[in-house]
Amino acid sequence: MSRTTKHALLSATALVSLSLAMLAAPGAAAAADAPQPWADASLSADQRADLLVKSMTLAEKLKLVFGYFGTDASYKNFQRPPASLAYSAGFIYGVPRLGIPNQWETDAGVGVATQRSPTPRERTTLPSGVATAATWNPDLAFAGGAMIGNEARLSGFNVQLAGGVDLQREPRNGRNFEYGGEDPLLAGTIVGKEIAGIQSNHIISTVKHYAFNDQETNRNSIDVKIGDQAARTSDLLAFQIAIETGHPGSVMCGYNRTNGVYNCESDYLLNQVLKTDWGFQGYVMSDWGGTHSTIPAANNGLDQESGFPFDLSPYFSDALKEAVQDGYVGSARLDDMDHRILRSMFENGLFDDPVTGDHATTIDYDAHQKTAQADEEQAIVLLKNTGDLLPLSAHAQRIAVIGAHADVGVLSGGGSSQVYPRGGMVVPNEGPDGFPGPMVYFPSSPLKAIAARTKAAVTYDNGKDLAAAAKLAADSDVVIVFATQWTGEGLDMKDLSLPNNQDALIAAVAKANPKTVVVLETGGPVLTPWAGSVGAILEAWYPGSGGGEAIGRVLTGEVDPSGHLPATFPASLDQLPRPVLDGVDDHSGHPHTDYDIEGAAVGYKWFDLKGLKPLYPFGYGLSYTHFSYAGLSGGQDGGRIHAQFTVRNSGSVEGWATPQVYVSPAAGGWEAPKRLGGWKKLDLAPGASASVDVTIDPRLLAVFDSASKTWKIAEGDYRLILAQSAADPVQTVTIHLGARTLDVRGR
Ligand code: BGC
Repeated sequence: MSRTTKHALLSATALVSLSLAMLAAPGAAAAADAPQPWADASLSADQRADLLVKSMTLAEKLKLVFGYFGTDASYKNFQRPPASLAYSAGFIYGVPRLGIPNQWETDAGVGVATQRSPTPRERTTLPSGVATAATWNPDLAFAGGAMIGNEARLSGFNVQLAGGVDLQREPRNGRNFEYGGEDPLLAGTIVGKEIAGIQSNHIISTVKHYAFNDQETNRNSIDVKIGDQAARTSDLLAFQIAIETGHPGSVMCGYNRTNGVYNCESDYLLNQVLKTDWGFQGYVMSDWGGTHSTIPAANNGLDQESGFPFDLSPYFSDALKEAVQDGYVGSARLDDMDHRILRSMFENGLFDDPVTGDHATTIDYDAHQKTAQADEEQAIVLLKNTGDLLPLSAHAQRIAVIGAHADVGVLSGGGSSQVYPRGGMVVPNEGPDGFPGPMVYFPSSPLKAIAARTKAAVTYDNGKDLAAAAKLAADSDVVIVFATQWTGEGLDMKDLSLPNNQDALIAAVAKANPKTVVVLETGGPVLTPWAGSVGAILEAWYPGSGGGEAIGRVLTGEVDPSGHLPATFPASLDQLPRPVLDGVDDHSGHPHTDYDIEGAAVGYKWFDLKGLKPLYPFGYGLSYTHFSYAGLSGGQDGGRIHAQFTVRNSGSVEGWATPQVYVSPAAGGWEAPKRLGGWKKLDLAPGASASVDVTIDPRLLAVFDSASKTWKIAEGDYRLILAQSAADPVQTVTIHLGARTLDVRGR
């Protein structure tokens, strides 16, 4: 859905004056020199926020809870606030009299995005979020977050709308590339680390889109039905872990409804789960167009309306003032909204280390490109490698590179998270004219990276003419076909097939030369009907600013492919809980979807439960070396459950092992036979071995009890399964656990 369509419902009458934001505070001039006790950095963020809220007028309090879009919208007769940054996502006025800085907001999770513009900011992009999850490497996630947060800060932004952790329940979801895959522990950990990296730059990050915003079809209205226990054990657990790991200053509530109520006015999601049960002390901002009321939204936990004029009405402007004056929203609640916003601003350094405008010329792009490349190198998943076709043989004399603009660059995902490359568009005029277009390729050429690493003659063909591509393939020693699936915000895939006749291209090339390697640049899972006739397959996701180099290094064996799937690749749509995406042809205004079908059995858990064999399982990924595992034992120490074992690189090249530990109750009774309990990613030289200790979060051994809001571990035997993927166990040990009850935060 385009931004225009998204807001088509906004009536002209809803355009109110922006007078509130422009209002001078009473006594503004007189107070300029007054002492500012909240400036004392030795006080806690809470104390400072308290002091500040007490000094604010009603008009000032209202300013902080109302955000603007940072981009002109002529179709709404809207001009961005003059102090906002051009073509940015959002802006909130500060209060100069009290030293409260403006908030300048930018998307998103892979870097500093720009709304569609003739002169976009040109910045570094990380590989897609799902790619970073495929690294299974929290340190890389932190480093990537720190890098994009640095670019945000140096671009003049102090709030980054990053940290997408909606679970991949729906492989057709057009935004899966922004998220962390299907498992709450993996997604929550990786996204949480990214958030921590972003905030290490003294700016705020969000985590989004809270919650169950797992498909784009009818995203503004779809009603997700899910029971509390299933919710807390799946999508909500991913958010809970991301928040515990990353401590984001803000949570962005998503567009959809949950159990009949819009997320941004859901007492259950906002007041009960987030703020009370989890003790979240930051603020909740709405997604752009995600606020639907004044009084219910304010009283049910929304702290800041975002992106005026996206909503039908400016609910948190004059209407909120009236609601407070008339007592429908208590003044204590408005104080709480401001307290939460200011607390996060203090906590994350927005007062003590303020952004000082645009210093983008000082960004160290070379270093940042290396950070993005390092991420991609560990994100690439080797799905197939028959007869050791990879790494490319030094004896190959003629290598064909075919398709997907691999001569000039690598693809990225579309929508509000779109980062634009330095040096402009290497592939202009592809993809839709409107949102979520354009289709953007980053100028990191796989062809050049391959050619630089081989003595072979490397020839490129664009793959448009199947006969010509097949001819080149037949005349080559090895063929590398690149295939893309462009996905973007607001658009779900109709199925999981590669678009634009690429399956036929791959089949034709493989028929001409079975020594064919397929490199996929996709937003998520796709079908590979030609898998049996090609020699090797790499999933490279959206590879980011250093993606061409990373692909070249993996193909030639300079670096071992060490990515593992963070989401199941289904063999067909029939295997999914919803073979047909809900709401596709529903124009009722109240489309709905039933997550209780699978409950918490998301992804591999569903496949396990139903005994289905996927195309490629969760956790799967091959390597150029071999790892052997031994000595698995389970133990407990002070309530923590451990799995210990040794891993050895028994092959002949250096590589990264990713041993995974799944947990499973002997007596059953969970949503699915097993859950991921933990993992380690470690670098091993050939012949080297290491002792590994994986600690398992006790919540992953428990069942959530909604009545008492506790996690209950039942007494009994539990299997700890050491595995190389969800479908490849290598060793199992059984431990006995006593009954135990943990509070709602898992303590
Ligand atoms: C997206 C958010 C984004 C916001 C601001 C919305 O359409 O869902 O992820 O942060 O726009 O651009």
